[in-house]
Amino acid sequence: MSIRQKILMCAPDFYDVEYVINPWMEGNIHRSSRLQAVEQWRGLEKIVREHADVDHAIPCQGLPDMVFTANAGLVLDREVVLSRFMHPERQGEEPHFKRWFEKAGFTVHELPKDLPFEGAGDALMDRARGLLWAGYGFRSELDSHPRVASALGVEILSLRLIDKRFYHLDTCFCPLERGFLLYYPAAFDAHSNLLIENRVDPEMRIVADETDAVNFACNAVNIGRTIILNKAGEELKKRLQAAGFTVVETPLTEFMKSGGAAKCLTLRLTEPAIHRHERARVRVESRILRMEGHLLDSGLLDRALELTVQNGGSFKILNFELGAQRQSTSKAEINVSAPSTEMLERIISQLIDLGAVPPPEDVSDAELMPVALPGVAPDDFYATTIYPTEVRLCGKWVQVAEQRMDGVIVVGEAAGEARCVLLRDLAVGGKVVVGIKGIRAVRKTESRDLRESSRGVEEFSFMGAGVSSERRVELVVDQIAWELRRIRERGGKVAVVAGPVVIHTGAGEHLARLIREGYVQALLGGNAIAVHDIEQSLLGTSLGVDLKRGVAVRGGHQHHLQVINIIRRYGSIAAAVEQKVLASGVFFECVKQGVPFSLAGSIRDDGPLPDTEMDLIRAQKDYARLIRGAEMVLMLSSMLHSIGVGNMTPAGVRLVCVDINPAVVTKLADRGSLESVGVVTDVGLFLSLLVQRLEKLQAGGSAA
Ligand code: ARG
Repeated sequence: MSIRQKILMCAPDFYDVEYVINPWMEGNIHRSSRLQAVEQWRGLEKIVREHADVDHAIPCQGLPDMVFTANAGLVLDREVVLSRFMHPERQGEEPHFKRWFEKAGFTVHELPKDLPFEGAGDALMDRARGLLWAGYGFRSELDSHPRVASALGVEILSLRLIDKRFYHLDTCFCPLERGFLLYYPAAFDAHSNLLIENRVDPEMRIVADETDAVNFACNAVNIGRTIILNKAGEELKKRLQAAGFTVVETPLTEFMKSGGAAKCLTLRLTEPAIHRHERARVRVESRILRMEGHLLDSGLLDRALELTVQNGGSFKILNFELGAQRQSTSKAEINVSAPSTEMLERIISQLIDLGAVPPPEDVSDAELMPVALPGVAPDDFYATTIYPTEVRLCGKWVQVAEQRMDGVIVVGEAAGEARCVLLRDLAVGGKVVVGIKGIRAVRKTESRDLRESSRGVEEFSFMGAGVSSERRVELVVDQIAWELRRIRERGGKVAVVAGPVVIHTGAGEHLARLIREGYVQALLGGNAIAVHDIEQSLLGTSLGVDLKRGVAVRGGHQHHLQVINIIRRYGSIAAAVEQKVLASGVFFECVKQGVPFSLAGSIRDDGPLPDTEMDLIRAQKDYARLIRGAEMVLMLSSMLHSIGVGNMTPAGVRLVCVDINPAVVTKLADRGSLESVGVVTDVGLFLSLLVQRLEKLQAGGSAA
């Protein structure tokens, strides 16, 4: 190195762990020894001095983290972008460092207030590549990156940190001289890792393992061929040596109690100018979206922001109009940003599903692409949800027909119509909606009142809570009984999806009764429910267990095969009923009452029964046909078939999901739509209670 480096440090006169703003500080309040800290800091300073000149910032009482000068700002040439600390605990450092830089003759750039950016702790020059790597996720906001890029006229690559132990980029990432990179990949999300791998050749990447990472090996000071760090494993040291570096270890354990080590305690002041770009080059892209509704009480806004961050984006609320009354809605205008177009689009498409729309001036027609191969959508297709959706075609919003989940939107020849189509049903030339433009989902505004009555998942999930939750199950059964009565009275449609547990728990008779009394208009299930129902009718057992006595019957495990064999002999369940072979049970009632049923096969099916559809595409179609027009779907202890049905059912249909397993209930009922309710209970108890309640209603006369 021709010119001697200059490095800023700040003596630990007032250093201590006084608050907790990162996981390293937890449990360490006032646990560090000042004496030892001073000794360790001097040790570091001495080594640094062998390779560079050291400037000092004056420590301040009450600002214990001022020792970490890496966070003073980001220096490039004679300019500096000052830090804006995320946590109030460190914001007091800002004016001190500002004064220091001004006095030292730097041109000082300041970011807007409330836009956190923590200096060289989160932004590292890559001199070999002439660019700046910048971290976000914990301390610095993604939206600070474009500002920094334009202040300094540099190219920035944004990296998202995902492990809170590595909250600053410099705790896990260290560009070295001659293009080498020392880093800990697990601290970054997949997109960031790809970006790193695209930019840095494999032989230049020196990967630290977890042990090295938690020893702050990546928090290294690199001056020329020397690397100064707290501690590194033998393996890593060998790798660094092989790359031509000399590793100098110096203990910094007292500072690790605060979440920092060698690199954090230094700030390089001599950053030679790198290639400047006319216009800042940065990949961060952003878009403005609006949301309206019961944003706070429905949790919609919360979900939108959470989802943005989880997907690697960042947000800023530009405007928020709070609906003050219980019935009034709120409006929000949000700026969403992400480090790449693809990431931004992924986030936006999910926000659209939550009902977000672009401001009117940004609204445009949906983008269409023709299908080139049968059954294959163009890349970038928009995947549908259960929510009513509209697409904008020739300046007009058109409602999408046959709304269901996991389809694509195909626009008709007339351009005035659009519908959901499954991938496999796409025909060549069909015009598919791609991208995120001109699509909006209509989310019913879920007011607090509506939610109270149907916030099924949380309300009914906790049977462990004792008597009150059983009472809750009773209440929800009352409600369902009442609705079933009303649907029957107006000639509406109820579909039941049921698993074999209904039969095993002895509730077959209750379900049979619901069918007999006209409460069920379609029954969906698999091979098993029919087999065990018929086994129960013909042989008195269910999977070989005598339900009356609750004991396994000798040779009973073969019963289901015998039953399958009998029905196969007659050719169908209906034929067996006709021949008076089958004279009771759920499927007997279906045949008798003319209630259509559909049995979808699966790989584990014995037999199957002649009625079981083993062609799954045909089975799905049949399910879809039977569900169409249903006002309520009762899902009784069948995860597989219920999920299938859930995907085909648009929002607005009342879903009642009953299962003893809370995870199943949550999975099915938590569709984010207010019409679904989950009941965690034994399906046998549920059905018996339901039948009782209906009986009571019957005795009491009309339900309406
Ligand atoms: N306690 C300090 C904080 O949490 C440690 C800062 C470490 N500095 C760094 N550049 N990583 O802010």
